[in-house]
Amino acid sequence: MNQFENVLQALRAQPKTWLITGCAGFIGSNLLESLLSLDQTVVGLDNFATGHQRNLDEVRELVGTTRWARFTMITGDIRDMATCQQAVKNVDYVLHQAALGSVPRSIKDPNTTNEVNISGFLNMLTAAKDEGVRSFVYAASSSTYGDHPGLPKVEDRIGKPLSPYAVTKYVNELYADVFARCYGFKATGLRYFNVFGKRQDPHGAYAAVIPKWIDAMISGGDILINGDGETSRDFCFIDNVVQVNLLAATAEEDAKGEVYNVAIGDITTLNELAASLKAILAENGVHYEKPSIYRDFRAGDVRHSQADITKVTNRLGYLPTHRIRDGLKTAMPWYIANR
Ligand SMILES: NC(=O)c1ccc[n+]([C@@H]2O[C@H](COP(=O)([O-])OP(=O)(O)OC[C@H]3O[C@@H](n4cnc5c(N)ncnc54)[C@H](O)[C@@H]3O)[C@@H](O)[C@H]2O)c1
Repeated sequence: MNQFENVLQALRAQPKTWLITGCAGFIGSNLLESLLSLDQTVVGLDNFATGHQRNLDEVRELVGTTRWARFTMITGDIRDMATCQQAVKNVDYVLHQAALGSVPRSIKDPNTTNEVNISGFLNMLTAAKDEGVRSFVYAASSSTYGDHPGLPKVEDRIGKPLSPYAVTKYVNELYADVFARCYGFKATGLRYFNVFGKRQDPHGAYAAVIPKWIDAMISGGDILINGDGETSRDFCFIDNVVQVNLLAATAEEDAKGEVYNVAIGDITTLNELAASLKAILAENGVHYEKPSIYRDFRAGDVRHSQADITKVTNRLGYLPTHRIRDGLKTAMPWYIANR
């Protein structure tokens, strides 16, 4: 049995209580589905700033009434300390996902991104430390690599942040580090690299590229590429992200308090992504022939991003189950059915 299978077996044998912040969002709702499917008890906290009730409704449908009864939802804001203190009560593991994502959003409104992603994070970290939870795992970001030119990205070599969003995610790591030094409370950061999968919102000005393009292709809209299309990313399917969260939360003490890349180690350009999406949609009976439209590069975007996953593999026992094409094939029927 690999490490993840061991963790699943142990959790089934001895269920735990989890807090997922941002549980109505894309990643949070997928964590919720997985944990409830494992018969865990889950508390969720979300203010629905970018998350949706429909994500929770879908999870309820998927897991069924008995498992859903193990879920308690708190509608509230991580900027409110009392709410954070209420949420962590009697919790074993915290998976902190709540934040305002998106580089362009943070450039337009750095203050709100700062309040949620830094003050909100600090509230959650403090509340979890005071409650004495077993583990605190938080969503960090590959944006922390900033302008560092090295590829693939290795955890301890970062550059200067290129956006307010990147600053906030880096500050999370700094606070986590300082809490380990000052209070002996270890928080584990997962630097996600462009996650995708079901329930990722295709709509709105700050939608991520994969759901946005799938939606545009299904509806016959335009594919707008920022720059020359040779910008590249290490796209990571949601199942891999769920796996690392569970591994990190249940890890041995010496593997906690670290920062880990969460991706595949692959590199895909935007031009390649558009071609893959067209091909997989065609396999699903949707044919999109329009040529892509190229426009200016977008401010704050990193040019190339590819993870070195040696550390997360060696220290947490991570074994990605889906490369980009596998993930797109798995997610596509959901996007077609849920437009
Ligand atoms: N999706 C990615 O590719 C990616 C990459 C790197 C890091 N991340 C990080 O992963 C986490 C989850 O991202 P996601 O893609 O699921 O985004 P999402 O927007 O779908 O989920 C974020 C959730 O947090 C909630 N939230 C926002 N502000 C809140 C507040 N003040 N109080 C309570 N809840 C609040 C939102 O309503 C939403 O449900 C975020 O921290 C994000 O920065 C995501």
